[in-house]
Amino acid sequence: MNVGIDRLSFYAPSYFLDLHKLAAARGVDKDKYVLGLGQERMAVPPPDEDVVTMAASAALPIVEAGGAGDLDLLIFATETGVDQSKAAALFVHGLLELPSSCRAIEMKEACYGATAALQLACAWVAAHPERSALILGADIARYDLRSPGEPTQGAGAIAMRIAANPRILAIDPEHGVHAEDVMDFWRPNYREEALVDGQYSTRVYLASLVSAWERYRAASGRGLDAFRRPCFHLPFTRMAEKAQMRLHRAAGLPAPTPEDLQRILGDSLGYNRNTGNTYAASLYEGLVSLLDTCPEDLGGARVGLYSYGSGCMAEFFSGVVQPGYREALFAARHRAMFDARIELDYQQYEDIFHLALPKDGGEHAFAQYRTGSFRFAGLSQHKRIYEAL
Ligand code: HMG
Repeated sequence: MNVGIDRLSFYAPSYFLDLHKLAAARGVDKDKYVLGLGQERMAVPPPDEDVVTMAASAALPIVEAGGAGDLDLLIFATETGVDQSKAAALFVHGLLELPSSCRAIEMKEACYGATAALQLACAWVAAHPERSALILGADIARYDLRSPGEPTQGAGAIAMRIAANPRILAIDPEHGVHAEDVMDFWRPNYREEALVDGQYSTRVYLASLVSAWERYRAASGRGLDAFRRPCFHLPFTRMAEKAQMRLHRAAGLPAPTPEDLQRILGDSLGYNRNTGNTYAASLYEGLVSLLDTCPEDLGGARVGLYSYGSGCMAEFFSGVVQPGYREALFAARHRAMFDARIELDYQQYEDIFHLALPKDGGEHAFAQYRTGSFRFAGLSQHKRIYEAL
């Protein structure tokens, strides 16, 4: 029996900043962002949107299409948690009106969290094939203004239904993992912005890739030629090119040409180039970009997946795209969402960046911006108030 991704839905906020504008404001050559990092736009969540509303908006089409009757596990992976105690999954559970028989928990390990959730859900469904699980990954990537990480900021959410005999991607049982206690990127509880040793983090990402890949190769007996397309965690899209080149080097293969890289990776990078880093959602945003936009029918193709979370946890695994997968995608919905986005000017971006949540426990109603199907409407006595639109 195959187990894997049966539905796959992505959501990004309605507002974005063009990185040409950020480059102008910072006095940086725009090519550093566009070519050097491979980023064009960053998604900016408005003040009445957070990871809960983004994840619920990503999940809604899945629940609307398939119902929630067979759902008994909801795992929400995020490093932008909204409460130290209550799982963000429970807010989503309420917004989506999921059955009270469905467990709801939150999971964290930087950008790796959704992969841990996916693997746990696959094991769960393998043991209970008549049931399904909903995996959410949502984050808001924030660095200090004027820091090297600033142009890689972003926001977005992924939702995946995990089921037996999946319509989109059957997950292979083999995997290779690399875990190591390092300080490449972190966010202390008292900070809104992440701290990062940027160049070091890229070196750890690549070294962990080789270690995870070697373990995957030993477990599966597969070489790089087994994958029609790879998908990598995307802190910025140039990172995928560096990753693919590093894998070639580790395998003793000639370096891929820029044309090879574009052919193998191009379709998986389009969404991220326009949202920025979405942390826990990022790898799966790359997967949905590949499946939505690749003109070639990938049915039957094996996809290699590399998940990396700073700190660090890395995993290389794979899956086989299912014949007829296109019918289970939400490609038209994603296209319409990107087409309808609203551009911010630089000052609007900075104004939104500086907004802080009131901490006085009073009554606060937030102005209404354009959000997905849900909004973070305000605060009352330290409680977050959400509403469906
Ligand atoms: P930087 O150090 O300012 O940039 O920031 P740089 O000087 O390394 O330049 C970047 C690239 O642009 C270089 O290309 C330059 O040559 C090129 P490369 O040498 O790498 O091929 N460049 C230009 N190209 C064309 N025209 C120009 C031009 N100027 C320069 N005029 C850095 C880069 C990644 C360090 C920064 O953005 C950063 O700190 N980002 C945040 C951390 C990050 O994304 N790390 C990635 C690995 S860790 C990870 O993936 C986990 C993470 O997602 C978090 C989690 O797990 O939760 C971050």
